[in-house]
Amino acid sequence: MCGIVGYIGNKNAQDFLISGLKRLEYRGYDSAGIVTLAENGDATYLRAQGKITNLEEKLLKNKRSDMIGIGHTRWATHGEPSERNAHPHQINDLFLVHNGIIENYKELKETLNDYDFKSETDTEVLAALIDSFYKNGDYPLSNAVVQALKLVKGTYGIAVVSRKNPSEIVVARFGSPLVIGIGNNETLIASDASALVGHTKRAIYLNDGEVARVTNDSVEIKTLNAEPVSAKVEEIETNLAAIQKGGYEHFLLKEIMEQPQSLMETLRGRVNVEEGTVRLGGPGLSEDELRRIKHLVIVGCGTAYHAGLLASYYIEKFTPEITIETVIASEYRYKEAYIPENSVALIVSQSGETADTLACLREIKKQGIKTIGIVNAIGSTIAREVDGGTYVHVGPEISVASTKAFTSQVIAMVMFGLTIAQAKGVKKAILKPYVEEINKLPSEIEKVLNSVSGGIKKIADTYKEYEHAIYLGRDTSYPIAMEGALKLKEISYIDANAYAFGELKHGPLALIDDRFFEMAFLPKGVLYDKAISNVQEVLARNGHIVAITNNQEFDLQVENIIKIDTSLLIFAPLLMNLVSQLLAYYITTAKGYNVDQPRNLAKSVTVE
Ligand code: G6P
Repeated sequence: MCGIVGYIGNKNAQDFLISGLKRLEYRGYDSAGIVTLAENGDATYLRAQGKITNLEEKLLKNKRSDMIGIGHTRWATHGEPSERNAHPHQINDLFLVHNGIIENYKELKETLNDYDFKSETDTEVLAALIDSFYKNGDYPLSNAVVQALKLVKGTYGIAVVSRKNPSEIVVARFGSPLVIGIGNNETLIASDASALVGHTKRAIYLNDGEVARVTNDSVEIKTLNAEPVSAKVEEIETNLAAIQKGGYEHFLLKEIMEQPQSLMETLRGRVNVEEGTVRLGGPGLSEDELRRIKHLVIVGCGTAYHAGLLASYYIEKFTPEITIETVIASEYRYKEAYIPENSVALIVSQSGETADTLACLREIKKQGIKTIGIVNAIGSTIAREVDGGTYVHVGPEISVASTKAFTSQVIAMVMFGLTIAQAKGVKKAILKPYVEEINKLPSEIEKVLNSVSGGIKKIADTYKEYEHAIYLGRDTSYPIAMEGALKLKEISYIDANAYAFGELKHGPLALIDDRFFEMAFLPKGVLYDKAISNVQEVLARNGHIVAITNNQEFDLQVENIIKIDTSLLIFAPLLMNLVSQLLAYYITTAKGYNVDQPRNLAKSVTVE
């Protein structure tokens, strides 16, 4: 969602702000703006609705060599996407950019009668509130920010500059990430470390409730209670190649195609094929704690939720006496759910910043339940707040639609399940096939990606004009159907829904007609024949079926067949998911839509 950048140093601030905002584009936004300040306090203040290129057009006539500034990409929450509502917001000498939501902005606004508000945003109210304490520069800006934030309810990551003192930026966070990059005689601000890559490797991640006053060569951090905080400088691990397209036309295709490598990173050092065991250091649970686990709660949103659902099917198969509940974070956070003793919660999030998932984590922790993060973004809020965790290490995922993270989340959770099963003394003969298949998965993914792409591209052309799609699966291929339908709808805008094969007769069968095509996931296994019967039912109603199967003998007369050639049985559905990913990609490119940044969606949903 919204992105923040800031710069103070000895170089051109406009250059960094624009390049930084472009790095954050993937998060989703609908307007953008920057302000820079000259030494005498003159402000160059530019905002534009739509893409950053619109802002760049304005910049052409307003080039400055100012060396301090802040910038923002906005994803509308309060007020329509428009220039007027875009950040930075200016109140008198102050400019403010803000991520998050000020929940009590209406009450605060009523106390700020001296101000003439120009936008419909909560952010402008916060800017006025800060200004009311700043009193024309009579008080230090950081103190004014602290006084204002003490009155605020909600979430924020903010950056503020003042025309009165163009040699400092004040930043603060509560619930929305804020990173301070330490450079050589320059300090950079971003809501996401990817904007800092290539500029510095050293960063300070602010914690909730901290405010920092930043100059070109200093960072002073304090809490809202004025207690000084000694900053911990951490290393940014991402490199430039990881956030560039690397020869691919779109990030989505790059991220689909790099799954053999990204999964290898998830597995590195964690799998011992000879022994048939896995080892995860991060969760930090003793053998005894693992043995006592009776219940798992898996929490996530969107693709992360689907990953949790799929992992739960697997874990239940090999772990005795365990129940698993996979829940959607936005629902679970408001449920008065009872979590039994001896439970562990897996908190699944690519970004580590999803607001609902984070809220669940905090609720679950209050109940004294151990929380384990299955997170990609290193140093993210969820990664820092969980009791232990397993990073999936897939590198930056830029495209809004999640692909490589899904595959690795599933496997990371299955590996966690295997560590529980190992501790509970489950026979090696049961667990070894899982470990062996996990170990082979990267190369099998590579094989499948290389063999199916061409065929899927052709199929995409056949179905690109359809209005609706039904994705069908059962057992482990049911979550795969759900994830496939999500991929298709989120980027191609084709209405796609998933059903368990067994549910067909309870409603969806009534839908089958020429406006629909059906994606049928048919992995070999005990339920294969039952699924085939369901396919027959759709066929009998002239359904437009695409069958995806690893059964090389499959010979039903369906419209299209995609055969997956693999020795894997357990994880064949994960290979079938590659078909869904590629199909969504090719249909969307055939339609000419923006693959990486679908309309209305954001990569990291940091507001409720
Ligand atoms: C958004 C993204 C999805 C993602 C979901 C959860 O909707 O567009 O791709 O699956 O958030 O995000 P998380 O970062 O918590 O995995």
